[in-house]
Amino acid sequence: MSPTEGAAGAADPEPARAAQAAEEFRARFGATPDGIWVAPGRANLMGEHTDYNDGFVLPFALSQGTTAAAARRDDRVLRLSSRQEPGRDVELSLDDLAPGQVTGWAAYPAGIAWALRAAGYHLPGACIAIDSDLAAGAGLSSSAALECAAALALTALAVPEIRIPRPRLAAIAQHAENEFVGVPSGIMDQSASLLGQAGHLLMLDCRSGESAQVPFHPEAAGAGLLLINTRARHELSDGEYGARRAECEQAARLLGVPSLRSITNVADLDRLADPVLQRRARHVVRDNQRVHIVVALLTSGSGLGADYREIGRLITQAHVSLRDDFEISWPEADAAVEAAVDAGALGARMMGGGFGGSVLALVPDNAAGQVRAAVAAVFDRHAWTAPEFLDAVPSASARRMVLPDGMVPPGRDAPRYRTRGVTVVFRQDPREVLRAGT
Ligand code: GLA
Repeated sequence: MSPTEGAAGAADPEPARAAQAAEEFRARFGATPDGIWVAPGRANLMGEHTDYNDGFVLPFALSQGTTAAAARRDDRVLRLSSRQEPGRDVELSLDDLAPGQVTGWAAYPAGIAWALRAAGYHLPGACIAIDSDLAAGAGLSSSAALECAAALALTALAVPEIRIPRPRLAAIAQHAENEFVGVPSGIMDQSASLLGQAGHLLMLDCRSGESAQVPFHPEAAGAGLLLINTRARHELSDGEYGARRAECEQAARLLGVPSLRSITNVADLDRLADPVLQRRARHVVRDNQRVHIVVALLTSGSGLGADYREIGRLITQAHVSLRDDFEISWPEADAAVEAAVDAGALGARMMGGGFGGSVLALVPDNAAGQVRAAVAAVFDRHAWTAPEFLDAVPSASARRMVLPDGMVPPGRDAPRYRTRGVTVVFRQDPREVLRAGT
């Protein structure tokens, strides 16, 4: 078995991915990176719009994610490039970073540098080349993956290396997104990317920050999770997300509690006179309850014989709640959920912030083909852009990648100088050239 093959003989995609990230860096910056970091996107089994209500979520890290190939510079300059954003490279001085100053994709890594500094950490400069296999707008948290990859790169390149516990790093990344980028998101996405574990869901208490790994093995019961990218774009900063957040905060204020997390009984919501606020709050209270029920179903007994039929039913129930009470679903998601369940999925629901992105379905292996076909057919009937399907497998969290020997692209030629009629070749490490800022 070659070193790039896993136990089952399947090729391990990681070395090729690392080599591609290094190549991307070389093409952009003309040298070899000091290191490559990767941060995954996330899916979420249960608990939507509960994180900023101090509630519970049950996300997991995906195998797809974002790489940051990076090298240190000592001049406090940040140079950023992304394979997905050709021609939109950015160069910034770390000393001048301020919210609102950077827009577009580069605001996320720049925001991380800003937030780390605001948290009291001293960073050197860096050149960072970004690459990603997460479709932007698919609702799989490509922005959190970008933040977390940049955070790992920047902290590792500092001298001495900055070591930050991951729950704290997730909070710093959320601070970057809230204050620097200007998106009022919660802490779920960064937590999943930094704390997820292969074969597990992350049960996160968003009030205390405490988390637990919940073993999740639907394959043992002949089922799996399928992501359906509905190809409808979502834009969290377009106001709807913030509006829902404001409604939840208003409901909590009217109920006299610090956050909706404090409400555990939906009957308590009768005190809300406004039917819209009542519906919003009902979704949050019930989704928190559903997180606990799913965890109980997964952890009772061995977990291997978990009642996936019941978990599927709860997933579809969550969709109805997101559609009717929270009112953040969209036509492609509703159609995908209905088609998937009709074709044999145990459950399906829209996932993430809403108004676009992906649907998550729990599908028995023997219905996988018909579920995909049924969803594709309904999209075709509506003349919508064909959906994309992705198997969602709980995977490892953000990490430094190992670049196998021989896969590092050669650095640029050593500089030559002529002095007293002799040619002197400086066999300088290309990284030294880069750090000098050339
Ligand atoms: C987005 C946000 C998260 C969370 C979800 C909804 O993904 O970034 O913090 O609020 O929406 O659950």
